[in-house]
Amino acid sequence: MTRVLVLPGDGIGPEVIREAVEVLARVAPDVETETGLIGGAALDETDVPLPPDTLERAHACGVVLLGAVGGPRWDGLEQDRKPERGLLGLRKELELYANLRPAPVIPALADASPLRPECVEGVDLIVVRELTGGIYYGEPRGRDEVGGVRRAFNTMVYTEPEVRRIARVAFETAGRRRKKVTNVHKANVLDVSAFWNEIVEDVAPEFPDVTLEHQLVDSMAMVLLRDAASFDTVLCPNLFGDIISDEAAMITGSLGMLPSASVGDGGRGLFEPVHGSAPDIAGRDAANPLATILSVAMLLEHALERPDAAARVRAAVDAVLADGWRTADLARGDEKPIGTREMGERVRAALGGS
Ligand code: IPM
Ligand code: MG
Repeated sequence: MTRVLVLPGDGIGPEVIREAVEVLARVAPDVETETGLIGGAALDETDVPLPPDTLERAHACGVVLLGAVGGPRWDGLEQDRKPERGLLGLRKELELYANLRPAPVIPALADASPLRPECVEGVDLIVVRELTGGIYYGEPRGRDEVGGVRRAFNTMVYTEPEVRRIARVAFETAGRRRKKVTNVHKANVLDVSAFWNEIVEDVAPEFPDVTLEHQLVDSMAMVLLRDAASFDTVLCPNLFGDIISDEAAMITGSLGMLPSASVGDGGRGLFEPVHGSAPDIAGRDAANPLATILSVAMLLEHALERPDAAARVRAAVDAVLADGWRTADLARGDEKPIGTREMGERVRAALGGS
């Protein structure tokens, strides 16, 4: 029996999670869920952002659905106690090294993009971001004082096995799509990037039907705006992937629409919307629950191996959008937005009986 650990977290997290969990119950009534604490919510109750109990249950379930973490209330805490540490700890402890962030332009929402329609037509890319290494976790990190001068430092470090396994995920992903990997790097300056590129080049021949190209990260930020449709699978180290995936999300015009899957070996996975905790609109029934609902679709597909149920969820979301229903983030002109709750209800209605 599969159990899913649900971690609502902070800000709009609990609101969007509620809608998504009800969708999961509709399409997979046999899947049991249990709820735990993470982020600021965990700090408030237990004084740590990732309580041992949450970690233990995450290991036991292997599959986690998460809302969002963070908020201004906890911003003043020292680095190691911030809500974000809870998420980073969970990714690391479960060894969820591959973060998949699909960013397709949804035809019904094409006019939500800040770019001209001709720049977004046909955009359908996926960012494959390395998630448990690089500068996010590298040692040494911290602060010290040298000769009376204060300083702070992080380390961008990758081992060969870390690069190999994420490169393979990217090539496998591209193999199921349009068969092109764009590797994002900064090898003109960083030793770690030059090394990363060598390993990626070395893995490439294992996937002869996939084309590999390289793109400097600064140039990538630019070309993505000009010609996003030319990209298929975008392979990034942790930090570049964090940045490029937000840019890709904005191009589609719908940060509130984008799901993500963080997966490791052996079927483990963490599924969460790409957007954050949006504390400014928390508790006001104003958040878009579709990114979390679509994260449930990724969970069904990647962790539970139920592609049919995943397809049903995606079709229901498409149907609701095609009918013109919009949350505030998506509404344009005189479109009247609906709330979080109503959007969830409309998706469940579009699912019909199970
Ligand atoms: C993301 C977020 C996280 C990250 C934060 C909340 C730690 O920005 O998932 O992209 O930087 O990885
Ligand atoms: Mg980010």
